[in-house]
Amino acid sequence: MKITTILPAVAALCTTALAQTFSDCNPLNTTCPPNTALGRSNYSIDFLQNQMSDNVWNWTAGSAKYGGDGAEFVINTRGDAPTVRSKFYIFFGTVECIFKAARGQGIVSSIVIQSDTLDEIDWEWIGGNETHVQTNYFGKGNTTSYDRAIWHPMSSPQDDFHNYTTDWSKDKIDFYIDSNLVRTLKYEDANGGKNFPQTPSDVRLGIWAGGDKKNDNYTIEWAGGETDYKDTPYTMYVKSLRVTDASQGTQYVYSDNSGSYESIKVLNETKPLKLDGENGESVVKRWQGLSDTAKIAIGASVCGVGLIGAIIFVFCCVKQRRAGKHEKLLEDAKFEKDRSELLAFRAEMGRQRSEKLAMMQGAPTGQIHPSNMNMNSGRGYQRY
Ligand SMILES: *[C@@H]1O[C@H](CO)[C@@H](O)[C@H](O)[C@H]1NC(C)=O
Ligand SMILES: *[C@@H]1O[C@H](CO)[C@@H](O)[C@H](O)[C@H]1NC(C)=O
Ligand SMILES: *[C@@H]1O[C@H](CO)[C@@H](O)[C@H](O)[C@H]1NC(C)=O
Ligand SMILES: *[C@@H]1O[C@H](CO)[C@@H](O)[C@H](O)[C@H]1NC(C)=O
Ligand SMILES: *[C@@H]1O[C@H](CO)[C@@H](O)[C@H](O)[C@H]1NC(C)=O
Ligand SMILES: *[C@@H]1O[C@H](CO)[C@@H](O)[C@H](O)[C@H]1NC(C)=O
Ligand SMILES: *[C@@H]1O[C@H](CO)[C@@H](O)[C@H](O)[C@H]1NC(C)=O
Ligand SMILES: *[C@@H]1O[C@H](CO)[C@@H](O)[C@H](O)[C@H]1NC(C)=O
Repeated sequence: MKITTILPAVAALCTTALAQTFSDCNPLNTTCPPNTALGRSNYSIDFLQNQMSDNVWNWTAGSAKYGGDGAEFVINTRGDAPTVRSKFYIFFGTVECIFKAARGQGIVSSIVIQSDTLDEIDWEWIGGNETHVQTNYFGKGNTTSYDRAIWHPMSSPQDDFHNYTTDWSKDKIDFYIDSNLVRTLKYEDANGGKNFPQTPSDVRLGIWAGGDKKNDNYTIEWAGGETDYKDTPYTMYVKSLRVTDASQGTQYVYSDNSGSYESIKVLNETKPLKLDGENGESVVKRWQGLSDTAKIAIGASVCGVGLIGAIIFVFCCVKQRRAGKHEKLLEDAKFEKDRSELLAFRAEMGRQRSEKLAMMQGAPTGQIHPSNMNMNSGRGYQRY
């Protein structure tokens, strides 16, 4: 076949692939496409053995490096904020992360479980705080409560790997550090369930500079002060991740706009997502496991077959890639902006809470110090 006869067909294929990019959709307001479920009871990935594949993971900013401590999320220069989200959703289940937070004043490391309706479960570490980790939650993006964030005392989150596990069911959320239960949030205690995270959610890992100069003062203070980029790199490490999905469908669908867990339909009609990690064989792992002769043999045959493919690829994609890179940069910038705004909002809530408490205690209000931004410190344990 002549190249000239196959090119138009291939060009058509490329267009189809591009059209598949979905836009984010809030099921509270509109009808959205189904969420792709994990499709298995469990998924584990050990980043000493495997890397995140594009099948399973979507980098919304930056990318990871891999080293002796697993996946590395690195801030090298101002504007870096590597962040990834899973392409799968779980509808209740467990997220276990063997994790080491980044150092650095004003640097925030995070593990987030989040739905399309903005239900959210958070773990957050502040680089300059070597004694505490914060857990938090939001229901349907409602940030108006003053008592959700709890700071948990712990030892050396930036020096040692710890096991941070979230166990999420329709009745409660349990937060564990190294198998010690540090917090339980019951459904009814989250504004009678209205603020309880209860819709299919993805898993996000990320690091960013909450203390960047461009953020407002409250955010900078919440993050523990202004970020000094002279001491970079600041690196967050993820050794492994284990996720279970309690619902085990292949798709989750919102049957109405209520955002309640009862409205979620579990479908089982499509093929499950192709996984990487321990449940699937990643290309990287298989390639590393092959002998050199096998590599040469495969390389040789791939090269032969690959020539026509390469011509087609160049034809299709060079132009799109250029456009794609530009889009990606814009997307990263937008993502950063959205996140700063969200953080600013939360920090403002924290400030109002501090003032409220200060007033109740008869203390003067005004200048806010990092120490009184965190009013739940210590008392979190007794509340639950
Ligand atoms: C990755 O996530 C972004 C941000 O939500 C989204 O706009 C984009 O469509 C996703 N890409 C893929 C390939 O899923
Ligand atoms: C949903 O719609 C309401 C008004 O109908 C609007 O105020 C709100 O911002 C929308 N929320 C989202 C998440 O789009
Ligand atoms: C994890 O999933 C695999 C199949 O992918 C299954 O064989 C195994 O029993 C599951 N383990 C648990 C603890 O559910
Ligand atoms: C948001 O949460 C607060 C306190 O948790 C609650 O009083 C308020 O009614 C909630 N707002 C909405 C719109 O549900
Ligand atoms: C992590 O903690 C969870 C909750 O206690 C526990 O079930 C799990 O076995 C722990 N994982 C490892 C690798 O120790
Ligand atoms: C933020 O801090 C800067 C520098 O310390 C100060 O000039 C500015 O007035 C502060 N802004 C607010 C809103 O407090
Ligand atoms: C979906 O199908 C798989 C395999 O057939 C089964 O193991 C699983 O339990 C089903 N899930 C639901 C929610 O029906
Ligand atoms: C770390 O956070 C806790 C809880 O908010 C706070 O009491 C402590 O002072 C913080 N430490 C530093 C060094 O900021």
